[in-house]
Amino acid sequence: MSVPTSPSCPSAFGAACGKVILIGEHAVVHGYPAIATPLCAVEARVTARRSPGLLRIETEQAGVDTRGLVKVATAVLLRYGHEAAGVTLHVQANIPAQAGLGSSAATSIAVVRALAAAYDLTVTPEELLELADIGEQAAHGRASGVDVTASLAKGVVRFVRGMPPTRIPLQSPMWLIVGDSGMPRNTHQAVAAVAKQPDALRESAFNRIADATQQLEEKLRAGNLQAAGVALNVAHHALSTLGLSTPALDTLCQAATQAGAFGAKLTGAGCGGCVVSLCADEPSARKVETALRRAGAVRTFSERLTP
Ligand code: PMV
Repeated sequence: MSVPTSPSCPSAFGAACGKVILIGEHAVVHGYPAIATPLCAVEARVTARRSPGLLRIETEQAGVDTRGLVKVATAVLLRYGHEAAGVTLHVQANIPAQAGLGSSAATSIAVVRALAAAYDLTVTPEELLELADIGEQAAHGRASGVDVTASLAKGVVRFVRGMPPTRIPLQSPMWLIVGDSGMPRNTHQAVAAVAKQPDALRESAFNRIADATQQLEEKLRAGNLQAAGVALNVAHHALSTLGLSTPALDTLCQAATQAGAFGAKLTGAGCGGCVVSLCADEPSARKVETALRRAGAVRTFSERLTP
């Protein structure tokens, strides 16, 4: 196979947003619903450059799962009749790695998009989901698919494993504020630890999370942010009973609610990573960000969600 080189084949580009799980993490692995949304304050950007030699992944960012990305890139190239070689992928992301903000999903999607641009491939939305999910399975062990779905969504969505997501229309704009504890979390280990919990404890926690997920959906649809915040608090407590919170995450949730957030919970796999909280407007969101930083968050992000 002859490999075109620049300048006849300039580098091609792909990008994808991070994500926030509002509610339903862990339970979603076991078939319960989750609610999630893209976090476009952060993104992954991948450049694909066709060049002789092996398939290579380059990145300056620590914590990028390059082995998972090689699996994704190999699957893309073989699927569309190319050799799994002759391309260098350069990965840049301002999504903190191992923080529960969808870094592995976003980099996987960006890899597929960059290769599609470099090789002029037509990748359907279903194929994009399936191919990016290969990176997720490598990172999570038993990924539900919620991260890839959320990163690709156009707004807040309800997701059940194996089904297309449904959009949740909001009544009015709202703000999500994310605080990063700075403690890396490991999804694979957290999912495995939950699976080892006694069945009764796990089922009781999942049922409470499922009820809170239903509540959150109803309250978001009705524009009742106060009650939506209560659903977040309930889910955080249920996740804590599964051993997924930490003193740092509890402190951040408390700081957010004391500063005026309607509710707060850990987001993603837990045992580290981030919390997410909910406010109605920008001044409140800024106050919560300040409080999160004072309480130890190493970084914060806020995202305005619109109806
Ligand atoms: O990798 P994280 O932190 O975004 O967690 C993903 C959510 C889980 O429910 C814990 C795993 C999954 O695949 O759904």
